[in-house]
Amino acid sequence: MPPTHTFNDTVVRQFALMTVVWGVVGMLVGVVIAAQLTWPELNFGIAWLSYGRLRPLHTNAVIFAFGGCGLFASAYYVVQRTCQTRLFAPALAAFTFWGWQAVIVAAAISLPLGYTSGKEYAELEWPIDILITLVWVSFAIVFFGTVGQRKVRHIYVANWFFGAFILAVALLHLVNSAAIPAGWMKSYSVYAGVQDAMVQWWYGHNAVGFFLTAGFLGMMYYFIPKQAERPVYSYRLSIVHFWALIFTYMWAGPHHLHYTALPDWTQSVGMLFSLILLAPSWGGMINGVMTLSGAWHKLRDDPVLRFLIVSLSFYGMSTFEGPMMSIKTVNALSHYTDWTVGHVHSGALGWVGLVTMGSMYYLIPRLFGQKQMHSLKAIELHFWVSTIGIVIYIAAMWIAGVMQGLMWRAINDDGTLTYTFVESVKATYPFYVLRFIGGLLYLLGMVVMLWNVVKTVKAGSAVAVPVPGSAHASGSASVPNAVAHA
Ligand code: HEM
Ligand code: HEM
Repeated sequence: MPPTHTFNDTVVRQFALMTVVWGVVGMLVGVVIAAQLTWPELNFGIAWLSYGRLRPLHTNAVIFAFGGCGLFASAYYVVQRTCQTRLFAPALAAFTFWGWQAVIVAAAISLPLGYTSGKEYAELEWPIDILITLVWVSFAIVFFGTVGQRKVRHIYVANWFFGAFILAVALLHLVNSAAIPAGWMKSYSVYAGVQDAMVQWWYGHNAVGFFLTAGFLGMMYYFIPKQAERPVYSYRLSIVHFWALIFTYMWAGPHHLHYTALPDWTQSVGMLFSLILLAPSWGGMINGVMTLSGAWHKLRDDPVLRFLIVSLSFYGMSTFEGPMMSIKTVNALSHYTDWTVGHVHSGALGWVGLVTMGSMYYLIPRLFGQKQMHSLKAIELHFWVSTIGIVIYIAAMWIAGVMQGLMWRAINDDGTLTYTFVESVKATYPFYVLRFIGGLLYLLGMVVMLWNVVKTVKAGSAVAVPVPGSAHASGSASVPNAVAHA
């Protein structure tokens, strides 16, 4: 029988460490493809090093390996603390760790070999999709089982966000990956034509909404109050935030298909819901930032808190920009250009990246019995290097994107195009060099984090934390301040 009086942190430790490792790997591939866009000969004529194969490797590695491991680690940590109970079904929890790593390794092998279903962010072929389903169902059983056996009546808001993320991703994965196998690593989608496109972007946008947003909002609602030692600014707002966000995201997918064969009214519905989405997104951001009320001075000397709060400012920025880009006339300019890539990375590097790093800086020392990370100076360095890297990356992409959009639509008096396509590619070159430099800085920050984590882990050891209220517990319950105030 496993011990019932301590939290099950083994799986949390495993996921937390792999978050950092996969972060370095995924971002390294990002830097490689950024370099290839600048100097195309860097694929050395080797098929599995070609841009088309490495790009999905990058997106899968950063979203599902780096982001995914961070989400597993924090969901498992937070649900145990806020429910004051051990993880339900520990063997299944262990399976989610090894199963998820197997999915990542399978992706890292099959994508460079050229196996792909061709659906963005859902490229993995059907046998891997089945493994993902098994892992995800196990994740749901462990998470909701833990909530079900909770020792406190209240279900803290972070768990609502984690729960919605788990359920929605299950639904998205099952519907979008429905396919007819035509061999061991080949399949055809069950959808065709514009229906296929609509299902894909219903999936794609909700992957942003639930994988890249809802789960990370769960992190935000736990780790910001903990690190700031303040209750959530408004618990009531957090509930409104939850329901408004969950309801609205589901309808916004068609903004990825403006001016396509999708019926026009569907595009307008997508645009309308995208504009509405600004309100819950900003409500959540304000709730997170205002949690620092009365404690702003902490930002001066707490680099971990700075990661968490600055991530919210990027969240605010990308969720303002997204609704603007969903307006059809704006999208006519931005679509197909690097503006989209700038938007993606202000959300991905600024929001998803920084909030994950901040949360791991909170978690890792605690998981290894240390008061804080080995070097606060290294966290400080990481913060500045990555923030400067993000700003260079996204500013370069914005300028390049708007420039491309304007060049493509410029027309001479006689109706001919002012610029050839290749002229716009040449004009973009300096911005690709800048993006490469920005990305390199961001990667450098992640390498500093890896060094700091190795030092912290070596100095400490895995500790068993008693579950409050158990016979072996001493000291007070480890619940977020917001729950204590609820
Ligand atoms: C209110 C919230 C948001 C809205 C309404 C929104 C809207 C949009 C729009 C209109 C596009 C361009 C579609 C196109 O022209 O093809 C886009 C692309 C994208 N956005 Fe957002 N966005 C939001 C927030 C975010 C956040 C926070 C992230 C990341 C964490 C993000 C990640 C992406 C990605 C990955 C794409 C590119 C998809 C692709 O073409 O592969 N978005 N978004
Ligand atoms: C060192 C950091 C990074 C670098 C240098 C980098 C670089 C790149 C490059 C060059 C592309 C291809 C753009 C194109 O096709 O024109 C790309 C795409 C993408 N990256 Fe990154 N990336 C980095 C980090 C991240 C992170 C941390 C995330 C997510 C958490 C992320 C998510 C994405 C997504 C979703 C796309 C697809 C965008 C689209 O289809 O519009 N990246 N990245």
